[in-house]
Amino acid sequence: MATKNILIVPGDGIGQEVTAVGKKVLDAIAIKFGHTFHYDEALIGHVAIEATGEALPAESLQKMRQSDAVLFGAVGHPKYDNDPSAKVRPEQGLLKMRKELGLYANLRPIKLFDELLSASSIKPEILKGADILFFRELTGDIYFGEKGRKNDGDTAYDVAEYSKYEVERIGRKAFEAARTRKKKLCSVDKANVLETSRLWREVIQKLALEYPDVEVEHQFVDSTAMMLIKNPCRFDVVVTANLFGDILTDEASQIAGSMGMLASASIGDGTGVYEPIHGSAHDITGKGIANPLASILSAALLLDISFGMKEESELIISAVDQVLKQGFRTVDIADKSTKPEQILGTDAMGAAVLKFL
Ligand code: IPM
Ligand code: MG
Repeated sequence: MATKNILIVPGDGIGQEVTAVGKKVLDAIAIKFGHTFHYDEALIGHVAIEATGEALPAESLQKMRQSDAVLFGAVGHPKYDNDPSAKVRPEQGLLKMRKELGLYANLRPIKLFDELLSASSIKPEILKGADILFFRELTGDIYFGEKGRKNDGDTAYDVAEYSKYEVERIGRKAFEAARTRKKKLCSVDKANVLETSRLWREVIQKLALEYPDVEVEHQFVDSTAMMLIKNPCRFDVVVTANLFGDILTDEASQIAGSMGMLASASIGDGTGVYEPIHGSAHDITGKGIANPLASILSAALLLDISFGMKEESELIISAVDQVLKQGFRTVDIADKSTKPEQILGTDAMGAAVLKFL
């Protein structure tokens, strides 16, 4: 029986709807296992800009630092996507949070629930058995290098930068994880073109000497993008830089049927942050149809990684599995065989998972 402080940071769009469900699942776990979870809420993204003028107010950051874990929703608003000149943007809140909390490792497990084999646009026989754990570096690269304009604003630049230290710490996490899995690590870079990638490869090669039990391969990012679709089962643990990881994990979400299924954990030196990999999805916001399973699975990751509550975490995953086995689907993962009465909205899907808990 443990007492923990969990900060709920819903952010924008469907972030609000799905984290509300994720929180209910945490509540149910607390009751079942006799834990005490205290909750607080904080603002980030567009809602924070509207309320305070800042994408990540100091108060939110303070609350994050003081909590034991953060359940996060999403940030973003279409208003900014069509206005490249906006100085304050929702995504700045997310990036600042990652940097300030030292969240350098983003774990994105890609695992297909058998029941969803037909929900993916990839052939079932290619997908079956796919189980990949991505380690995306999260506080370096072109995301955080110097950026700006020159030549009277006619030319723009974003600098990609990595230090050996940054590559080594994410590399170690990936090697350690590979040890607990199939002992295969694929390091993804673009070392035929980029100097940062050559440094990346050098560091991973050196680290590999310390992990002789792990089989390491180096792949270029373009070829990896192709292999993920052609033969996803060949991968076990994948480690890559911030931008490559951003792109490859969206692609890999199709292996799991839908973006709506994928949870992620951002960890580092302090408080861990757990969030769906999907965005704020303003096109479906307020309609009550968003898939809450990624937030529910994020709650499961939170319990496992930040609190060491393995049994609690597995119970959530098996409840999700049961609900899918019963044929219940949100629209994004429904297929031809789904009966209309089995298509559930956000809250109903949450209630179905709670029933199995
Ligand atoms: C993600 C998102 C973010 C990123 C955006 C919203 C800044 O796409 O978490 O993958 O690019 O890291
Ligand atoms: Mg992304």
